[in-house]
Amino acid sequence: MRMSAPLKKALTSQIGMEAYASNYYLAMASWCELAGYEGSASMLYRQADEERAHMNKIVRYLNMIGAGATIPAVKQPPAAFKDLESVFKAALKSEQAVTASFNSMAAVAQKDGDHAAFAFLQWFVTEQVEEEALMETILQKFDLLGHDKIGIYEADRFVGRLPPPGGPAAAAAPG
Ligand code: FEO
Repeated sequence: MRMSAPLKKALTSQIGMEAYASNYYLAMASWCELAGYEGSASMLYRQADEERAHMNKIVRYLNMIGAGATIPAVKQPPAAFKDLESVFKAALKSEQAVTASFNSMAAVAQKDGDHAAFAFLQWFVTEQVEEEALMETILQKFDLLGHDKIGIYEADRFVGRLPPPGGPAAAAAPG
């Protein structure tokens, strides 16, 4: 079945949103690396790769169903952050915006009776639950460990020790 024009438009803009999210994480990773927050930098570089994989997933879905993907322009992300905690506050906010976008696309797919797109979008809806929970967990650590230098240092170490998304098995799997 053909995808509706509004859903195709939303998925096309989601390609741009994922590309922006990837670059945004890259900017955060780079800022952390330069500031000496190695744990957070490595986690955020990984996160940037994840968002790029999300972008590719949408491009390939649109191509697979014959809708033909187009790649939108991406604006420049912020380059500087107030402190380490504000990096993760920005990350949570960005993930919440992405979640809202997937929820509204899932609603469109449902209204269209586009079961294939709905199933495709469910993967992202679940992924967003995990990503938001991850950022919430990290932000909670800042509160628990305190905001002095030792607390921030420990929070960065905690972030650096987080397992890759989906666990080590998923990290080793292709695709
Ligand atoms: Fe691909 Fe976390 O949005």
